[in-house]
Amino acid sequence: METGQKETVLIVDDSPININVLFEFLKQSGYKVLVAISGESAIEKAQKTLPDIILLDVIMLGIDGFETCRMLKESAVTEDIPVIFMTALSDAVDKVKGLRLGAVDYLTKPLQKEELLARIQLHLKVRSMSKRLAEQNEILEQKVAERTAKLSQSLKELQQAQLQLVQKEKMSAIGQLMAGIAHEINNPVNFISGNISPTHTYVKNLLQHLQLYREAFPNPGKEIEEHAEDIDLEYLIEDLPKMIESLKEGTDRLRQISSSMRVFSRKDTSVKVACNIHECIDSTLIILKHRLKESNKRPAIEVVKEYGDLPLVCCFPGQLNQVFMNLIANAIDALEESNQGQTYQQIKANQNRITIRTSVVKPKETVAIYVKDNGIGMSEEVLSQLFDQLFTTKPVGKGTGLGLSISQQIVVEKHQGKLSCTSAPGQGAEFAIEIPINQPDDSEIAPGRLQNS
Ligand SMILES: Nc1ncnc2c1ncn2[C@@H]1O[C@H](COP(=O)(O)OP(=O)(O)OP(=O)(O)O)[C@@H](O)[C@H]1O
Ligand SMILES: [Mg+2]
Repeated sequence: METGQKETVLIVDDSPININVLFEFLKQSGYKVLVAISGESAIEKAQKTLPDIILLDVIMLGIDGFETCRMLKESAVTEDIPVIFMTALSDAVDKVKGLRLGAVDYLTKPLQKEELLARIQLHLKVRSMSKRLAEQNEILEQKVAERTAKLSQSLKELQQAQLQLVQKEKMSAIGQLMAGIAHEINNPVNFISGNISPTHTYVKNLLQHLQLYREAFPNPGKEIEEHAEDIDLEYLIEDLPKMIESLKEGTDRLRQISSSMRVFSRKDTSVKVACNIHECIDSTLIILKHRLKESNKRPAIEVVKEYGDLPLVCCFPGQLNQVFMNLIANAIDALEESNQGQTYQQIKANQNRITIRTSVVKPKETVAIYVKDNGIGMSEEVLSQLFDQLFTTKPVGKGTGLGLSISQQIVVEKHQGKLSCTSAPGQGAEFAIEIPINQPDDSEIAPGRLQNS
């Protein structure tokens, strides 16, 4: 009870004499006193005024004190108000029954004023203390709940950060390895491709020269004629230029792979750069080529590119490459799963296909990249957990369940975009990435700093 505010005592008695005596005495003792002359009116008054304590006569006309007490204890509003029964010495009442109903005490009439006061004070004190205790308890429980929630949130964040660190480390190690390999390949490839063109010219000249000799000396003698036959000169003359052509093709492919490896493994700068999304996707596809090509179990996975006319997009290309890699690798996994138990011919009849579509969604605002496969598809249950960290349906060692949660973080948090998926069992899956063309922190973009464009 707040200081300065009088405590309220409700007296319930159907005898006006009793009421008068109590009323005066309690008022003089400093209480605010309310009166009710029946059980019914006592309940009504108690609910309206919420007194701090009730003195309740047991024997009354209408509903008696026990019944009144039972009803007070049944109501959530009044159940906590302490009730003291008052009985005349001559009343043959069952005191235990009253206490069982929830009363805190019994007083016998005629009342000893000092005793009455002492008991009222005692029960008011008990009540205020238990109220405080309940409040403290509630605060404590709330605090414990808050702390527990905070702790489990921190634990979750810690686990998440740890996993992402591992994944990041892994990606950066792979990136470094790729950049290293690309660098190492580059020198010999440049050396070969640099020599192919003069070699081609030399060979052409030599063959021309040989032709002139043959025309000038149609009968070179037995030894030369035999040697020409031994080395199958006619076939050699026909095949040599073709061989050089295919050497050129091979080195061109090597150069393409090494440049894709460099594009793919590019280290992200701290600021976003304007980037050609199609080059990013293409480099990722080349890195994954070994998984797309034909094997003895299935024909090559067909990759259909439906590229729209995209502007340069401000992004962290290394991170976006990681997203493309995750989505395309998942699509390949989903296709391979749908191939399980099927023959080469059956798979061929239902061509494994990955379609990559890009478009500008809102002109000058957003681009969309769709990665679609006709693989195994997903149930509602898988769909609902798709982006959860560590959620995987793949066997241990094959999937960690990090790919999509990291991809979502890259798209949503690092690029303020959206990543979503539509799928149904047996119907394949389509992932949609949407990212703003100009990122909100465009001011950070270094002027004239264009990458892979
Ligand atoms: N294209 C898809 N088709 C069908 N299911 C998919 C596809 N992409 C993802 N899934 C489902 O979502 C799950 C989670 O994918 P996510 O990339 O996060 O993890 P993962 O591929 O299992 O493992 P990780 O990518 O870490 O190696 C997969 O295990 C798979 O069940
Ligand atoms: Mg994955």
